Amino acid sequence: MLHINDSRLLNTLDELSEIGATSQGGVTRLCLSDDEVEAKRYIIELMKRAGLEVHVDPVANVIGVLNSAAETKLVACGSHVDTVIDGGRYDGSYGVLAAIEALRSFKESEIKLGHPLAAIAFANEEGVRFPAMVGSKYATGLITLKDVFALRGTDGATFEEALTKSKLELESDSFLAKHIPGTYLELHIEQGPVLENEGKQIGIVENIVGTRQIEVGIHGSADHAGTTPMDARKDALLFASKIIQFVNKLSLELGKGSVGTIGFLEVTPNAPNVIPGEVRLIIDFRNSSANIIDLASSKLNEMVKDTANKDRVQISIRQRADLPPADMTDSIASLIQEITDDLGLTWRRMQSGAGHDAMIMRRIADTGMIFVPSKRGKSHSPMEETAGDDLIHGANVLANTLMKISK
Ligand code: HGY
Ligand code: MN
Ligand code: MN
Repeated sequence: MLHINDSRLLNTLDELSEIGATSQGGVTRLCLSDDEVEAKRYIIELMKRAGLEVHVDPVANVIGVLNSAAETKLVACGSHVDTVIDGGRYDGSYGVLAAIEALRSFKESEIKLGHPLAAIAFANEEGVRFPAMVGSKYATGLITLKDVFALRGTDGATFEEALTKSKLELESDSFLAKHIPGTYLELHIEQGPVLENEGKQIGIVENIVGTRQIEVGIHGSADHAGTTPMDARKDALLFASKIIQFVNKLSLELGKGSVGTIGFLEVTPNAPNVIPGEVRLIIDFRNSSANIIDLASSKLNEMVKDTANKDRVQISIRQRADLPPADMTDSIASLIQEITDDLGLTWRRMQSGAGHDAMIMRRIADTGMIFVPSKRGKSHSPMEETAGDDLIHGANVLANTLMKISK
């Protein structure tokens, strides 16, 4: 069995975590922000140091290739280095760095590989600034470059403007469209409490729940808080509060693992003595069943339209992101299980409540995901933490699974 270079992996995690570090000990690296661009430049350098052939595609997916001359199907692995606001140091970054470390270890041990291998840092997995999974959607042909360029971020900038500002040197065509991977593996922290609660070292993902995001614009009327009678108001925030309550109630009523969140809410003019004229909010609904997601979606649309009339406000409503549920490939899950057994590690098969690029890559390649435990199940938080031993175990499972596939 191959063993990756433990200290090197942990050092690169420390180095990457410095980029976009926040005072609370978290990391903020929104897609194409200065910090995320710096993180991409760090990954490019690290890939070069690892002896990989580096490609940066038109949407700034960063791809490091080993054994590129081999004419067989590409074996890919990776994750993302963009983060949420004040997120953790492991979400995405760990999977990218472990992928680079695995390829670097193959090169150093001069292992005979029968396939080209790629370590990938996908662009914009998180979807905080721009709708999620742009990089893997572009890489798999789910979205055109024209449509990517036109995407407008929550700050009003288009993806194209943000790319231009980044000054990243981009190739003119998609490396992954020309070299479609036959297999994709993603190593990631669990971001939940299951592995820790059960004392298991490795999670073997069988399916990833679907996510649908709906953006609602509420157009009321900004008026004087003191002189406007209660029955003459068009209070956009009052209406938003009804949507927030409805999302919570609907998720509880639908059950079967439904989760509904409103984490993005913008109030204008956001002044204590002005009735809110405009509100923008984003609903994030998830379930492992596409039918339940569709049902929730239609109930939300119905409620928003019906209540808007009663509250005398105008609304605009649009689907911001749609990531259907995805099953991982059985044969890859079985291989991960076999390797985990060979390494003498404990495991359990499980579902992912978090979305990942693997749910997109599954549309073109045999795909598998490997989880390692998250302390206290925390993620998307500065308190995100995974023990060093667990990080190393996960990287060794990834490396040995890749090696088995790439022989
Ligand atoms: O939101 C998610 O599930 C992932 O972290 N992008
Ligand atoms: Mn992630
Ligand atoms: Mn995340």
